[in-house]
Amino acid sequence: MQRKAHVFMVKPTDFCNLDCTYCYSPNRRRRNVIADEALEGLIRRMLEDFPADHRFQIVWHGSEPMGVGVDFYREVTARIRGELGDRVQFHMQSNLTLLHDGWIDLLVDERFSISTSIDGPRAVHDRKRVTLAGGGTFDKVAGNIQRLRERGLPVAAVLVLSRDTLGLTEEIYALLRELGLHVRVNPVLLPEGTPGCLPPASYGEFVRDLAEIWLADGESTFYIEPLRGYALRLVGGTPLMCEQQALCFEHMIGVGTDGELFPCNRFVGGDALRLGNIRDTSVRSLPLHPVAQRTARRHLDSPKCQRCELVDVCQGGCMYHAHAVYGDAFREDYFCESYVILYDFVIRNLAALLQRLEGIPQNRDLDELVAALETSAA
Ligand SMILES: C[S@@+](CC[C@H](N)C(=O)[O-])C[C@H]1O[C@@H](n2cnc3c(N)ncnc32)[C@H](O)[C@@H]1O
Ligand code: SF4
Ligand code: SF4
Repeated sequence: MQRKAHVFMVKPTDFCNLDCTYCYSPNRRRRNVIADEALEGLIRRMLEDFPADHRFQIVWHGSEPMGVGVDFYREVTARIRGELGDRVQFHMQSNLTLLHDGWIDLLVDERFSISTSIDGPRAVHDRKRVTLAGGGTFDKVAGNIQRLRERGLPVAAVLVLSRDTLGLTEEIYALLRELGLHVRVNPVLLPEGTPGCLPPASYGEFVRDLAEIWLADGESTFYIEPLRGYALRLVGGTPLMCEQQALCFEHMIGVGTDGELFPCNRFVGGDALRLGNIRDTSVRSLPLHPVAQRTARRHLDSPKCQRCELVDVCQGGCMYHAHAVYGDAFREDYFCESYVILYDFVIRNLAALLQRLEGIPQNRDLDELVAALETSAA
């Protein structure tokens, strides 16, 4: 069996050209580019820490990866391919507002798969995902998805569920169907008690309701994460998504602009859970790091998880969710009630879900990207 590719979620810059209302990415006004030593370290890690036939995925993430010019990626891609050839697959998570023909040429030449962010119908998206001057970005993003498609590039999207979109299940379904976008629905992450923080069950209820419409409509050509991942986990046994593994950073790691290592891209640039620096830390040594030991025990240490029937498949959920909402990464996930709702839905509808998924065109690169993105991006 082929070994699982190792995923590096790399931040090429802290900078972003937008100012989305909920964004957790720190230092977004800082115009920097990832240090050359960090890129050297990345290449060294791939060459030295893994067997000679191992595969890798590099997800250029951010703040906004297109905030660094296209020439940077031409050069870095050539450098990485020079050392590792086709063992590396490149992806990008971008707001897609800076796209131009030069970008598209690069993405086509290097067979990138792309995920963007879309938060729902124009009115909501334009309130949430805004330029520095407060302008909306929906038309630009939708137009650029179309341009990428016309050049044959696979595109998926992350949709951040917020209090503004909770009641818009049908409108959101219609939009995704129109755009034909594989989607990863993520709950907005805000500290508990702040006005925008979602009720813990609302995320599961929303995704379940969206999936019910999707199941009833036999003709849509997109899938919905995390449901696909949950269904495949139940039949295949192998966790596809980071949130299904107690040690979520066993196959994936976040890399900051100075080469700092974090459990995933979401922690990058913050103060919590720094694991070392890619310049001098072996990625293969990280499961022995004290943070890894605590991470792997989260579901065993949580009284709530200990009593839960789902503990084998859920394993405590996402540690970034716990960090962002409770300020404690080592607790069980805040959206726990949502997982109970979703697994219940998946178990009751497993045969129908698998049948529908079979009818949807496969694209392995894109599927890997969507699964690698942060957890239910990712
Ligand atoms: C930090 S952005 C970086 C990549 C790129 N700028 C973009 O927007 O796609 C990655 C993803 O995180 C999501 N995100 C940002 N802040 C969030 C929050 N507080 N809760 C949940 N998702 C969030 C964004 O919507 C986006 O889909
Ligand atoms: S485009 Fe991405 S990084 Fe920029 S503010 Fe929005 S969510 Fe944050
Ligand atoms: S559903 Fe909740 S209680 Fe059960 S394992 Fe997951 S996080 Fe723990």
